[in-house]
Amino acid sequence: MDAKTRIVSHADRPQALEVVRAAFEQDLEAQLVERMWTDGSIIAECVTHADGRIVSYAAISPATIAFGSEAVPALALAPVAVAPESQRNGFGEQVVRATIDAAFARHPGRLMFVLGDPAYYRRFDFRPAAAVGYQWEGGDVGDAFQVRSKDRASAPGIMAAAGSDAERRSIVRYCNAFSIFRQETP
Ligand SMILES: CC(C)(COP(=O)(O)OP(=O)(O)OC[C@H]1O[C@@H](n2cnc3c(N)ncnc32)[C@H](O)[C@@H]1OP(=O)(O)O)[C@@H](O)C(=O)NCCC(=O)NCCS
Repeated sequence: MDAKTRIVSHADRPQALEVVRAAFEQDLEAQLVERMWTDGSIIAECVTHADGRIVSYAAISPATIAFGSEAVPALALAPVAVAPESQRNGFGEQVVRATIDAAFARHPGRLMFVLGDPAYYRRFDFRPAAAVGYQWEGGDVGDAFQVRSKDRASAPGIMAAAGSDAERRSIVRYCNAFSIFRQETP
C-alpha cells in the first residue's frame, strides 16, 4: 500500500481528529489535540495518508523537567492514534518515527517522554524513565513512563547526569492541554 507521512496541514485537521477519536473510542484525546492546537503547544505532528485518507496521527508537545528548583525543557509524545481498521499495518510506527524526527530536528538536545506500553515504544528506543530518575507528574506508573534522547549513544550521559541523585527524582510535567485528563478524574 502506498502510504505517505507528512506534517499536519490545516486541511488535515478534521480527519486527524476523527482518527484520534476512533482509535481511543472516546472524545478526550481528540479534545487534547484541539486544545494543543488552540494553545499553539505543538512542537511536531504528522499524519500518514494511505488509500486517499488519513490513517494515523502523532503529536509531540513541550514538557518540563522540574529538577530541584530548575526547569529544563523537554518533549512529550502524545497522542499516537491509528484508525481501528488500519491498525497493525505499520502506520503507527511510520507516523511516530516521522514525528520524533521532526521534533528532534527542532530540539536535538531535549529528552523525549512517552506514557504507553513499553512493548510498543521500545522499538522507538524509549526506555523506562524511573530507572534513570524521572517521574511523571501524575504519579508512579511503572515502566509505562519512558524516555529517550535524540541519539542513543548520548542517552546514558544525559540521563545519568540528570538522574544521578536518587533523592532528587525529577518530575516531568506535560503542557497545560493535558489538564483535561485531570479534570476528568473524579
Ligand atoms: C497502539 C497503536 C498506535 C499501534 O499502531 P499500529 O499501526 O497498530 O501498530 P504498528 O503496525 O505500527 O506496529 C505493529 C506492532 O506493534 C505491536 N503493537 C501494536 N499495538 C500494540 C500495543 N498496544 N501494545 C503492544 N504492542 C503493540 C504489534 O504487535 C506489532 O508488533 P510486531 O511489529 O512485533 O509484529 C494503535 O494500535 C492505536 O492507535 N491504538 C489505539 C490508541 C492507542 O492505544 N494509542 C497509544 C496510546 S500510548
